[in-house]
Amino acid sequence: MANVNVDWSKLGFAYQPITQRYVANYKDGKWGKGGLSDDPNVTMNECAGILQYCQEVFEGLKAYKTEEGRTVTFRPDQNAKRMYDSAQRLEMPPVPEEMFLEAVDAVVKANKDWIPPYETGGALYLRPYLFATGPVIGVKPSDEYQFRLFGTPVGNYFKNGIKPITICVSDFDRAAPRGTGHIKAGLNYAMSLHAYITAHNRGYDENMFLDPATRTYVEETGGANFIFVTKDNTIVTPKSSSILPSITRRSLMTIAESLGYKTEHRPVKFDELDEFQEAGLCGTAAVICPVGRIEGKGRTINLPSGMNEMGPVLTKLYKTLRGIQQCKIEAPEAGWVHEVK
Ligand code: PLP
Ligand code: COI
Repeated sequence: MANVNVDWSKLGFAYQPITQRYVANYKDGKWGKGGLSDDPNVTMNECAGILQYCQEVFEGLKAYKTEEGRTVTFRPDQNAKRMYDSAQRLEMPPVPEEMFLEAVDAVVKANKDWIPPYETGGALYLRPYLFATGPVIGVKPSDEYQFRLFGTPVGNYFKNGIKPITICVSDFDRAAPRGTGHIKAGLNYAMSLHAYITAHNRGYDENMFLDPATRTYVEETGGANFIFVTKDNTIVTPKSSSILPSITRRSLMTIAESLGYKTEHRPVKFDELDEFQEAGLCGTAAVICPVGRIEGKGRTINLPSGMNEMGPVLTKLYKTLRGIQQCKIEAPEAGWVHEVK
């Protein structure tokens, strides 16, 4: 039994080093054999590509304990594929899907004591990432890379759990049009920080990014996609080539269809937000977090579902998604839940 010193009742969303993480290196044009390491620190050259030109991509997924004590992950193959695409966009050698999935299983297996017990509602958040370790001074891709995957036990992403949050549109865009917003690269997150802090300083929980070309359409926040519910219970999610293709959002749309809801994945104008009944954020970390108020373009939109609790349709989707992840409800498609033995 590892020395696990966690107060499960106080889990938020913070980093805490766990016993073992996975490390693999890319050198001389090929991936070396990866394995587990006790060392949470990374040492690299001062001129490493990650430090100079931000060559880094990452993923986020969770491992859960079921009520019967089984250990499962949710759609890890989708994270492997997305990280493959992200790496290609940043001219990095993609991590082969088998290595990615092996790393997920190895870290979960080696750190089972760090997975929050079922009753806590928490999870072991897993962070796979790939970064340039080789020195580069001219602007070009590095020759050497490292792939790591660590975990950290987490509870809710937002401090008030799943109470509605507030959102505002700040003056700051994240990515340029046709940039890298559709991939999970650390540089996108660095570019989102100023907008996030500006929103925070104005008393809002999160910032809503609009499309940077016209500032007309809803994109996403710094760490989650949007999901809306119309007054006649249609589920709508914004479509744009510069937002992250959220695995949670895609799963929720499939779940919604299996429950008989109509779904629309289409461009969403900021000006139509007051036609929605419910709004929420969705993502691995956020799961579904309801949004009660949105401010921007000189207007404030108070969602009819209010600031007290999640609305009924998002609650139904939330419970179904969590039920699938807890192996209590059958997934609408095969292969969503992967058991780690
Ligand atoms: N959008 C951004 C910018 C994110 O960081 C995340 C989190 O991963 C999401 C959306 C949600 O994606 P997923 O549901 O795959 O976690
Ligand atoms: C996730 O949901 O996995 C994210 O990456 C969001 C955030 C913690 C960066």
